[in-house]
Amino acid sequence: MSAPIDKTFIREYERNDEKVLKIHQSAIGDVGCVVWDAALVLCKYLESGDFGCGAKLKGKTVLELGAGTGVVGLVAGSLGAHVTITDLPEFLPLINLNIKENNELFGDDVKAETLIWGQTEYNTKDENIDYILLADCIYYEESLEPLVNTIVKLCQQHTTILCCYEQRDTGNKPQLERRFFELVRESLKVEEISLDNQDPLYSSPDIHIMKFTKQPG
Ligand SMILES: C[S@@+](CC[C@H](N)C(=O)[O-])C[C@H]1O[C@@H](n2cnc3c(N)ncnc32)[C@H](O)[C@@H]1O
Repeated sequence: MSAPIDKTFIREYERNDEKVLKIHQSAIGDVGCVVWDAALVLCKYLESGDFGCGAKLKGKTVLELGAGTGVVGLVAGSLGAHVTITDLPEFLPLINLNIKENNELFGDDVKAETLIWGQTEYNTKDENIDYILLADCIYYEESLEPLVNTIVKLCQQHTTILCCYEQRDTGNKPQLERRFFELVRESLKVEEISLDNQDPLYSSPDIHIMKFTKQPG
């Protein structure tokens, strides 16, 4: 279901330097209409000392997958990255609204595009991708393999992927999580960012930040 933008309510994201991003969330619609906890944990990690207090993003090219409101990409853009925020086409109006709302923090450096996992060909030929960011996307049985295929296809030799997700123990979520990492490990090196290296307030034992990179060689 699409994320209508006629009825939104704002969630504020306060950066560590007290600059504030205003994130519109849609009152009606699918799970991507609101900001998820894993997204906040990933945003705060981008601002953490382990990530150079955001300096690692300056001038870098970032692609966000399954962005929902786009909060992760917007924060990355506000820290100086050139960002493409992506999701299903029905989320583009909400993402574009949030880009417009926070425009003064990044000017033309953040844009939105449709990227359907396993379907959209994203042009990586001319595009150098330094970071791929995704929050709470290990969620859908039908798009698990397409998501992994997209990640693996987009990952270049120098690309770092940060995948933050909330560990869930209900329904088929434990199996989905296990299968997702089995598939990712077939092609990429997987490491976990320890809790000690994350924001002390915006971190939790059941929210994991995983780092994927290409195997050397
Ligand atoms: C649980 S929401 C997380 C949203 C956001 N990343 C956050 O953490 O606040 C998962 C997102 O994945 C997107 N999504 C689901 N299936 C997708 C697909 N096949 N291709 C692209 N995006 C998809 C949904 O539209 C939704 O925005």
